[in-house]
Amino acid sequence: MKHKIVVEPPGQNARTIIDTMSRNCYNSTFVYPLVIEDGEGCYIKDVDGNVYLDFTSNIGSSPLGYKHPDVMDVLKEYSNTGVHKIAGQDFYCREHAELAERLLSIVPKGFKAFLINSGAEAVENAIKIAYRRMGALPGVSCINAFHGRTLGALTFTFSKPVQKSNFPELPVKRIKFCSSDDDPEIDAVENLLKENKVAFIITEIVQGEGGYNVASKRFIKMLREYTSKYGVPLIIDEVQSGMGRTGRWWAFEHYGVEPDIMAVAKALQVGATLYRRELDPGQQGVLSSTWGGGSRIDLAVGAKIIDVIRRDNLLSNAERIGGIILKALRDMADDSNGKVVDVRGIGLMIGVEFISKEVRDSFIINAFKHGLLLLPAGIKVIRVIPPLIIREDEVQEGVELMYEVLKVI
Ligand SMILES: Cc1ncc(COP(=O)(O)O)c(C=O)c1O
Repeated sequence: MKHKIVVEPPGQNARTIIDTMSRNCYNSTFVYPLVIEDGEGCYIKDVDGNVYLDFTSNIGSSPLGYKHPDVMDVLKEYSNTGVHKIAGQDFYCREHAELAERLLSIVPKGFKAFLINSGAEAVENAIKIAYRRMGALPGVSCINAFHGRTLGALTFTFSKPVQKSNFPELPVKRIKFCSSDDDPEIDAVENLLKENKVAFIITEIVQGEGGYNVASKRFIKMLREYTSKYGVPLIIDEVQSGMGRTGRWWAFEHYGVEPDIMAVAKALQVGATLYRRELDPGQQGVLSSTWGGGSRIDLAVGAKIIDVIRRDNLLSNAERIGGIILKALRDMADDSNGKVVDVRGIGLMIGVEFISKEVRDSFIINAFKHGLLLLPAGIKVIRVIPPLIIREDEVQEGVELMYEVLKVI
């Protein structure tokens, strides 16, 4: 397959759908007028027949791309199953057991799993587990963090003012997210924990929505060292970076640390809070999910995704192809007349920073018109997060499209 623009987007079919949505729905965070119809491999087809190369993976939720044969087999299997959405915290099902078992085989030893629906819910339960142990003390999160939009998680999100205005917050303290080992604020955590009692520290390893900022190794090691010293649970949010995106199952594996609690979602298809057994709330009913803990189909697809990532060595693919993209985009930055100011990332989680928000926004819209899907992060960054199955020739196609786009912005 290849990208193909047959009618300038949005075509008539897309317009009709967007008009209906505009009249009836809240205008959330739509970036450009893509109306998705179908997909295959690393390509998405819109309702007017345009085919786009997808460098978004729907923010990491489609690690095997689209119409992957193994996933299609699961969907076929469930096409005759009547009870697919169950009260999954009240009744048991095989899919829940199998996904939990798979997850526990890829996280640090001695963890337990709690399955829910989304990333925000994974974070909500992570912080509940910490509060339960530590009491209703302030939590600590990083500047530019994103941990979700439900009200509890939102307190610890700090990436864009628009996400928070007028919304009340839980008690919180914030620290700088340090990307450089030389950052003068890198040891702020030591004083913070010496002088304050807190319930937890929560952080990403690569800040996603905040701008694809990669944590300094020393920063993460210090967070681990001082949270251990003061007996404070360290929560690592792997909702965007997890499940192989960085070339390891979890981004924290690149840092030689292990969390006490972790939040997972997106590529998993459902949400999961994973925690050290010692932190188990014990008493029944302390935790439960919103509705059901994921549909049975999503649970089954999530388990299949883990199997396929393992069977097809997609962690190595993410590392290898990620290296190729990183180099190609750094070359592009050199050729960009200063429009691209930085390229950074781990594996297939790569951010490209532009000179300004205006240039970045124009790049994204023009890429869309050329047949390449990209999404923004932070103020002036785009994320390059293709499906983990991407091949070298598809990378080349994407990079060529980006060069074309640079010429017109
Ligand atoms: C790091 C991180 N945490 C939490 C969330 C929230 O996940 P969800 O959108 O599934 O609620 C996101 C979503 O982008 C995320 O990137």
